[in-house]
Amino acid sequence: VKFLKGVLAVLTDDFTGKTLVLTGASSGLGQVIAQALAERGASLLLTGRNSDALEALAESLPGSGHRQLSLDLHKSTDIEAALSSALTAPIYGFCHCAGSVQTRPLKLSRPAPCLEQMQINALAGIEVARVLTQKQWMPDQGSVLFISSIYSQVGAPGQIAYCASKGALLAASKAMAVELAPRQIRVNCLAPGFVATAMTLQSAKLTEAQLNAIKDKHPLGTGTPEQVARAAVFLLSPDNHWITGTELCIDGGYTAQ
Ligand SMILES: NC(=O)c1ccc[n+]([C@@H]2O[C@H](COP(=O)([O-])OP(=O)(O)OC[C@H]3O[C@@H](n4cnc5c(N)ncnc54)[C@H](OP(=O)(O)O)[C@@H]3O)[C@@H](O)[C@H]2O)c1
Repeated sequence: VKFLKGVLAVLTDDFTGKTLVLTGASSGLGQVIAQALAERGASLLLTGRNSDALEALAESLPGSGHRQLSLDLHKSTDIEAALSSALTAPIYGFCHCAGSVQTRPLKLSRPAPCLEQMQINALAGIEVARVLTQKQWMPDQGSVLFISSIYSQVGAPGQIAYCASKGALLAASKAMAVELAPRQIRVNCLAPGFVATAMTLQSAKLTEAQLNAIKDKHPLGTGTPEQVARAAVFLLSPDNHWITGTELCIDGGYTAQ
């Protein structure tokens, strides 16, 4: 009992003194992940395009040292300069939560909207990883988390490009996990099922019938941003230093069927 109490006392998901970069912090899941990390002591560099939302979030978060950076991920070539100028000291890790979705059946699929989703969801994530895992920003040890989706594993009508982008992100994260393991940098994905956010309620432009069909496929019902944030904390946590190269589905049983 004494030993177990000792172990539990050590496993506290304590991020005190750790700085993390968070993309997609201006809205939805990113905002709630920011809150969960800040509550556990992390200092955050919050990024997104909506600078008003980022500023309001930075001011409302518990703890100190939070800053915001307005960063459009459309152009991979801008990412390194922007992040390098915003960072002042090494970081513990980052979470790429920014994402873009456009629902289009295959017959209406075109390269431009496909590329946009590939760019924000996958290519920008890879570029952010390249920049932030440089030794000057992430010396040995650290944690990387990509917010993927159940659609990295299963399909849905109209989500050809979105599925492709999240599948690409998952595959890339596994390669990164293996490459960065010698430096004790862990790389994981978190794959949520349906959670009501601006993306699912507005951007995805799903019909009510499509929404209901998606909801019906979750045996435990749909999720909340807070549940996703708890899982993000778990994967990012310094306590979980033997988990890398994996994707955790948090989907109320969607992919179990
Ligand atoms: N909600 C769900 O059910 C669900 C399920 C599975 C996976 N996900 C994934 O979870 C992540 C967050 O989604 P969400 O539901 O929270 O959606 P959301 O509320 O629409 O948030 C999307 C975030 O991505 C950022 N973003 C989009 N385009 C960007 C760009 N060009 N440059 C920089 N940032 C950009 C947005 O910031 P700005 O608008 O300020 O740029 C916003 O902070 C996404 O990767 C999504 O694919 C969501």
